[in-house]
This record gives sequence, C-alpha cells and structure tokens, in this order.
Amino acid sequence: MPLDPSLAPTPPMGFNTWNRFGGNINERLIEETIDAMVEQGLPALGYDYLNIDDGWMAPARDDKGQLTPDPDRFPGGIARLAERAHAAGLKLGIYSCCGYQTCMRLPASYGHEHDDAELFASWGVDYLKQDWCRVPYDEFPGKTHREVAQILYGRISQAIVDTGHPMVLSMCNWGDGEPWLWAQGTAHLWRTTPDIADLYRKPEEGGAWDLVRIFRQNSQLSAYGGVGGWNDPDMLEVGNGGMSDLEYRSHFALWCLMAAPLLIGSDLRQMSEATRAILSNRDLIAIDQDSLGHQAEVREEGDGVFTLSKRLNGGQRALGVFNSTDLAQTVAVDWAALAGPGAHRLREVWRGGEDTVSGRSLIEVPAHATKVWRTLAGA
Ligand code: GAL
Repeated sequence: MPLDPSLAPTPPMGFNTWNRFGGNINERLIEETIDAMVEQGLPALGYDYLNIDDGWMAPARDDKGQLTPDPDRFPGGIARLAERAHAAGLKLGIYSCCGYQTCMRLPASYGHEHDDAELFASWGVDYLKQDWCRVPYDEFPGKTHREVAQILYGRISQAIVDTGHPMVLSMCNWGDGEPWLWAQGTAHLWRTTPDIADLYRKPEEGGAWDLVRIFRQNSQLSAYGGVGGWNDPDMLEVGNGGMSDLEYRSHFALWCLMAAPLLIGSDLRQMSEATRAILSNRDLIAIDQDSLGHQAEVREEGDGVFTLSKRLNGGQRALGVFNSTDLAQTVAVDWAALAGPGAHRLREVWRGGEDTVSGRSLIEVPAHATKVWRTLAGA
C-alpha cells in the first residue's frame, strides 16, 4: 500500500536543524525554536513542521534494541517535544537513515524499520527524514543503487503505512538512482541533489553544491514533482550568512517557483528583518503552495539567464527571470510565450507594483537577482 499522498498536498514547509546547527542540537534549542516560530507568526504563513535532523539519538540502541534519545542532550525525550510542538500548533519531524548508521555514525534503521516506525509513531512524530549513509550495498549483490534504494525506502515506507499513524516521509538519497522517476507513492518528497552549501557559487567543484548548481539540476525535473510527492532541492540557507540578501531573495524565489519544500535552515531565535522579509513574502509562498502543484518550467536559458513559467490555479501563472551571471543583464521577456497571447495584468512580487504587459518588454535584472511576477485575474 502506498503512503497517503494527502499528507503533502503542497510542498511541506517548516524548519530543520541541520543547515545551521549540524549535530549540535539539544532539547532547549528545539523548545526555543518552537517558541520562536510561534512568536514570528510562522505557522500562520504555512511553516508548520519543526524537524529535528541528525544528532538526536544516543550512541547505541537500548537493551531492548530500540533507538533512544541522547540522554544528555534530549533528557526529556522526543514524545514530550512532539506534545509541546502540537500544543503550539506545529508538527514534529525526526530523522533516521536507511543504513546501519546515520551520516554522524549514530544508530540507524537498517533491519529495524518496523520497530523504528512504530517508535516514532508512538512518540507522535509527524514527519520522518530518512537519510542514505552507511547503506549495506554488499548485502544486495548485483543490485544497482536505484534498486537498493527502492528496497530500503520501500521498507520504511511500508513500515510507516503499517503504523496507521500519519507521517510524511522525506527521502534523502541526494538524487542517487534518480528517485524522481520512481519515488512518487514511496515518499512525499525526495532529494534531487547532494547537500546545499551556503554559497551562491563555489570556487571549486566537489563536496556540497552551490545555489546555482542545485538550481540547474532541480529545474530540469519539472515533469516529476507534484501533488503528494515533491522534488526536494534541499533545505533553505536564507539567513545563514554565506550569501547576500539579494542572493537569498533569488534562492527563495527560485525554490518557490520550483514548488520546493520550504524548510528554513537558519536560527529563528535571532532572525534579521531582511531574512524575515524574504521568508514571509506572501506572494512567493502562495506561488510555492499553489494547489495545482506544478513546478516551473525553464522556458529559455541563454548565457546564464533563465526564464521560468509556473502554471497556477485559476489559469494564472508565475513568471521568473533569474540572472545567474556576474553582470547586470537587459533581458527581452516575451510575455506571450510565457503567459499566452494578449495583455496580462501582473504583480511584481518583491516590488509589489502592478503593471499591464503584452508582447515583449526589456527588463533590467541585476547580477544574481531573480525577478518574479504573477499574473492577476482580469487583464
Ligand atoms: C546528509 C543530508 C543532510 C543531513 C546530514 C545529516 O546526508 O543530506 O541534509 O541530514 O546527512 O548527517
């Protein structure tokens, strides 16, 4: 039986500990983040998951073979945090891994899939991110990475279904084995790339991927994500300091055009005004969360300038122009090709002004910037 797709009718939104805190997490951070999310009004904007990533479990299973929270860092346990999140109108997510160990070499779910799913369900957990480190490929001789991923993610997916407890499943095997081709029904979201780096463009190849590279890969996959199962180009870095605010505006706008999960990865207890303004842009959130669930198609790519068009409910569209180059560009935008013939009334999402356009316009786009418009009913 497949997972219940109605748990992710739109891309999941919330917060995850990893990008900012890595394995340096504890229950106080989680409690303070619950409070910060509520104080900042994030649930009302749609950010309702608080996801604990790698680093929550004790170094060994207990004498009954169960995963157990680290006694020093999570002495009150996960169930209590889930309760507290629920009381604040949030949902709680947790992390495990398909292999013997997590990427931090803590105990993980291989051979324990049903036990772990039952345990998470008993704690009231609403979301599971399942990683892909320390996978015992040698136990599957002759099988490809894709086949092993289908088996192991299939097991945890079935285990979740068998608990009868609603839980979103986030697959995190970094695009290995092209999960977008087969993961719909197995998971509610699947990573399409290696880890994101908090950098617009990295000086050298290797390791984590920069923003431009992640965008280039994920934007090619618009045929695959959709209602119930989403392409996941990794979590947001907005607010973590490695990019300019203009670059973070591009990051957020591109993720929204691509109908990506929006998991904030910065410290919500000390959010700058600029970060808050980016993450709470209602037009962009509405574009991301549009009920049709379409991912923007890249219509044109010339010399590092991308034009994107995303179908929205009610015959509307979101349009974007991303100038990935290091120089300002004047871009000829063909509104008819992007949004259909005739005149279109548009709102520009950062500036807020409305315009009526038709034919072609020349648009100035600063280096690294993304301009986004949405069409409005009634030209
Ligand atoms: C990686 C994953 C990251 C984070 C990390 C934890 O595999 O892509 O998002 O979860 O493991 O160790």
